[in-house]
Amino acid sequence: MKKLNVAIIGQGRSGKGIHGVFLKKEENVWFDVKYVVDESEKRREIAKKEWPEATVLASHGELYGKKDIDLVVNATYSHYHIPVTRDLIENGFNVLCEKPFGRTAYECDSLIRLAEQKGVKLYVFQQSFYAPFYRFLLDVIETKKIGDVVAIDIKYNKLGRRWDWQTLQCMLGGNAYNTGPHPFGFALGFLGFAEDAHVAWSLMKNTPLFAGDSDNFCRAILTAAGKPAVEIEISDLDEYTDYTIKLQGSIGTLKCTPSSYALKYVPLADNEARAPLMTYLETEEGEPSYCKEQLTTVTEEGSFDGTAFDIGTRELYKNIYENITEGKEMYVTAKMASRIVGVIEAIHAQNPLAVRY
Ligand SMILES: NC(=O)c1ccc[n+]([C@@H]2O[C@H](COP(=O)([O-])OP(=O)(O)OC[C@H]3O[C@@H](n4cnc5c(N)ncnc54)[C@H](O)[C@@H]3O)[C@@H](O)[C@H]2O)c1
Repeated sequence: MKKLNVAIIGQGRSGKGIHGVFLKKEENVWFDVKYVVDESEKRREIAKKEWPEATVLASHGELYGKKDIDLVVNATYSHYHIPVTRDLIENGFNVLCEKPFGRTAYECDSLIRLAEQKGVKLYVFQQSFYAPFYRFLLDVIETKKIGDVVAIDIKYNKLGRRWDWQTLQCMLGGNAYNTGPHPFGFALGFLGFAEDAHVAWSLMKNTPLFAGDSDNFCRAILTAAGKPAVEIEISDLDEYTDYTIKLQGSIGTLKCTPSSYALKYVPLADNEARAPLMTYLETEEGEPSYCKEQLTTVTEEGSFDGTAFDIGTRELYKNIYENITEGKEMYVTAKMASRIVGVIEAIHAQNPLAVRY
């Protein structure tokens, strides 16, 4: 199998810690790292040791004209995603852009069109869509294991403080733009990316636990005609949530984290049907009674092998390799990433935060 050549721009937690870590693995049989770019001299020095076979550069402009690059990974600061990706497309490169794709769906869509005009490929690194727990939930919904799902809660919560660039609106930080692409992506996925999927309600806050001016609390409800209500919360103010996603179905419930799940449902066939009473309930002794009973239920627990970071990254890169070499369809498209940005953009529009930086 012929390997494709990659250039990585940015050597931070993503460029070094996610893309770099995967591309160094033996299981990466698809890509060779040929160029590494970072504007920081310190990080370039580290990159020279990390990638002795690669050429290390200071600016993405130094990649222009090079004919031995099949894919450029844009892992720069979030507010550079659009301008750097645009430059790369203009210069004829296939690009894998980190999330968030951009600030507005409009600018994302304009890059999708530009890539089509230039005849290059444009991907967005929304690797969570390939995570085993997300695929499992899609299957539970599809097979109606807990009945028809009526409500979905997604919580990406913790209690903590931040003061890095990811807290700044001007750098496209904040929980919605930073973490949001994953849970909002899931939300749209659970809604089947329906055309009418929209933000029905939202609330965003910036609190003293965030040094910058963006949101460290974001809650929104998304829905579409005939679909469940999906509530998404990304909060740095919550110590006490023990699940990542919860589904409530017509006969039961499921909760999961990226690593495990538990579910419980009430099989209707194993529980004698009841007709509603129109008078009071009482015990055998004639005392007033609450409506309760011993139900026959089914419970199940299990765990997931792998996460968005290992399996997700591998499967997305594999998908990209097969897309470039064989034209295989992408499971996650730039258009889907643009829809996700559209949701985040709408929530910001509904909750204007004071701009302080
Ligand atoms: N998909 C994911 O799960 C995931 C996880 C982490 C980060 N990210 C995304 O990756 C991006 C980078 O985040 P990070 O945590 O790695 O940041 P970081 O602060 O750790 O590092 C960013 C690096 O990029 C370099 N850089 C920034 N702009 C540059 C430019 N124009 N040219 C050259 N070098 C440049 C900086 O010098 C720095 O070394 C962000 O957009 C973030 O949202 C995605």
